[in-house]
Amino acid sequence: MIQWLKEGVTGLVREFKEGKDDLSDQDEMFRGRTAVFVDQVIVGNASLRLKNVQLTDAGTYKCYIITSKGKGNANLEYKTGAFSIPEVNVDCNATSESLRREAPRWFPQPTVVWASQVDQGANFSEVSDTSFELNSENVTMKVVSVLYNVTINNTYSCVIENNLAKATGDIKVTDSEIKRQSHLQLLNSKASLCVSSVAITWVLRPLCPYLMLK
Ligand SMILES: *[C@@H]1O[C@H](CO)[C@@H](O)[C@H](O)[C@H]1NC(C)=O
Ligand SMILES: *[C@@H]1O[C@H](CO)[C@@H](O)[C@H](O)[C@H]1NC(C)=O
Ligand SMILES: *[C@@H]1O[C@H](CO)[C@@H](O)[C@H](O)[C@H]1NC(C)=O
Ligand SMILES: *[C@@H]1O[C@H](CO)[C@@H](O)[C@H](O)[C@H]1NC(C)=O
Ligand SMILES: *[C@@H]1O[C@H](CO)[C@@H](O)[C@H](O)[C@H]1NC(C)=O
Ligand SMILES: *[C@@H]1O[C@H](CO)[C@@H](O)[C@H](O)[C@H]1NC(C)=O
Repeated sequence: MIQWLKEGVTGLVREFKEGKDDLSDQDEMFRGRTAVFVDQVIVGNASLRLKNVQLTDAGTYKCYIITSKGKGNANLEYKTGAFSIPEVNVDCNATSESLRREAPRWFPQPTVVWASQVDQGANFSEVSDTSFELNSENVTMKVVSVLYNVTINNTYSCVIENNLAKATGDIKVTDSEIKRQSHLQLLNSKASLCVSSVAITWVLRPLCPYLMLK
């Protein structure tokens, strides 16, 4: 018997027993969206398939297994979110130069921190402005952060970070040019990525990805 449950949800996510699916206690919110891999159950693989992933699917899932040879259980934490690599632009005017960093999609709301190689340890919160603008799907947000009064011959870094990802950008400002370099890091090496139909990047973050009973 395989039972998948979700913390805080009354009904079951999925139940498989006596060689077949039993949907009698399945919760409404998982109707038509879950499956076990029947051919894999025989080899002890109780993985759950979840389709049409929604933000509300984030949470802790529990899997209980009973076989003739024993029983076991596993917890899995599933997180959903969005992140994107920011672009850097330079706004120039007569009095000062500023750096504008824009990332089209983040969720949950990230923190944005600027730093400088020359003024190490300086706190740039007074000379920067960060705004979060809700995108049209009402979930993810566009992040815009502007750093004012940029000085020449300095390298600035800007870190945008939430619980899923960290985007680091280094911006080197000299008399003649501005060099930029960005990279995005997922905060869990086990994470796997896929792109949903609304082009939000979702992250699956299993703490205990599967349970094998043989
Ligand atoms: C269990 O089955 C799923 C679906 O076929 C597969 O993606 C996964 O890798 C399998 N897990 C193991 C541990 O074999
Ligand atoms: C120059 O840029 C700074 C910072 O972006 C802004 O506060 C100021 O109003 C701008 N000045 C002009 C003349 O546009
Ligand atoms: C920077 O200064 C602001 C207030 O000006 C403060 O809220 C913030 O915690 C400071 N950040 C760091 C990293 O010290
Ligand atoms: C930028 O520098 C100018 C001139 O030094 C100053 O008047 C202005 O307040 C500074 N802007 C910010 C946002 O600190
Ligand atoms: C987003 O929210 C606004 C205001 O609440 C609403 O008018 C709009 O239909 C929502 N859009 C979507 C895609 O749900
Ligand atoms: C920046 O560095 C270059 C080369 O080291 C130097 O020639 C230039 O004067 C510096 N510019 C400023 C504004 O400090």
